[in-house]
Amino acid sequence: MQKIHAAITAVGGYVPDYVMTNKELETIIDTTDEWIRTRTGIEERRILKGEGKGSSDIAVEAIKELMQKRGIGPEEVDMIICATTTPDMVFPATANVISDKLGMTNAFGYDVSAACSGFLFALTTGAQFIETGKYKKVIVVGVDKMSSILNYEDRTTCIIFGDGGGAVLLEPNDDGHGIIDSVLHSDGSGREFLHQKAGGSVKPATVETVMNREHFVYQEGKTVFKFAVKNMADVAATIMERNNLTPDDISWLVPHQANKRIIDATRERMGISEDKVMINIQRYGNTTNGTLPLCLWEWEKQLKKGDNVVLAAFGGGFTWGATYIKWAYDS
Ligand code: UT7
Repeated sequence: MQKIHAAITAVGGYVPDYVMTNKELETIIDTTDEWIRTRTGIEERRILKGEGKGSSDIAVEAIKELMQKRGIGPEEVDMIICATTTPDMVFPATANVISDKLGMTNAFGYDVSAACSGFLFALTTGAQFIETGKYKKVIVVGVDKMSSILNYEDRTTCIIFGDGGGAVLLEPNDDGHGIIDSVLHSDGSGREFLHQKAGGSVKPATVETVMNREHFVYQEGKTVFKFAVKNMADVAATIMERNNLTPDDISWLVPHQANKRIIDATRERMGISEDKVMINIQRYGNTTNGTLPLCLWEWEKQLKKGDNVVLAAFGGGFTWGATYIKWAYDS
């Protein structure tokens, strides 16, 4: 009997309407459109506006689209895993908020926190529940409202990130399609280079932490860049080797969208051409947990059954990984 693989059978995505251009950032901080484009590849990003709106609202829109495409109702979903760095609140899990908003009355769920690698970690976790044969429909959503933790006085971080997210449905597949392999890594010694200083149990919120702007993203960009370039490229090469994939075998690279220069380094290491790489960083910036599913969402129509797709990510923690998928359907 063929092994059961977890196959992606539908993709949904959502980005907020508001477009924040580099030109707009020029009016807020000391930066230029040219600097941002050349150093990162970003031209604009989306921002979720509106009182009382959080990551769950982005996720809900992505999942609605996914369910509509697949023709399923919320009560058919067994499980939801939400990868996010900007949960609606510290607790309960944003997965719970999403399932309540959508009426997923038969689903259980929880959040995964692995910064920019969160979607890959959650995807691998969700796949295990399908591969056991016990669950039939698992939704994995990667979403962030990064604007809620950005310091718009810090030009080194606020230019990079944006809001958005996407979701995939995992279902059992017994003809060799689906998630074939994953290589995941964490190294907590890198945590100081990219984190949020206050708001957790070590340093709960006080007037002082707020005044000191410690509830925002803190990043030592150069150091993170160095680790990202090496580790994302290495792990993408590892997944190719482990699965005997040559550059010609690869149909698509789906890279985390943190910096165009990191994406280029990964592509070069894999030995593949630019036309096989999904890149939308210019329009959305770094949506953290949202980048990978947003790429799948935008390229879904071009993906064909049997395509060899490699996803790769690197993020705070540090966390990094790669996943090899044999795509399961023609859109
Ligand atoms: O997704 C999670 C993982 N995160 C990443 O992978 C991000 C990794 N890091 C990066 O992508 C890059 O390090 C950044 C985009 C954050 C920064 O680019 P960089 O080429 O590493 O710039 P830098 O930090 O070395 O700064 C170079 C110069 C500095 O000026 P001086 O000291 O040379 O005079 C900065 O002050 O650029 C300056 N600078 C800016 N100038 C205009 C920094 N940010 C800006 C800005 N506009 N927004």
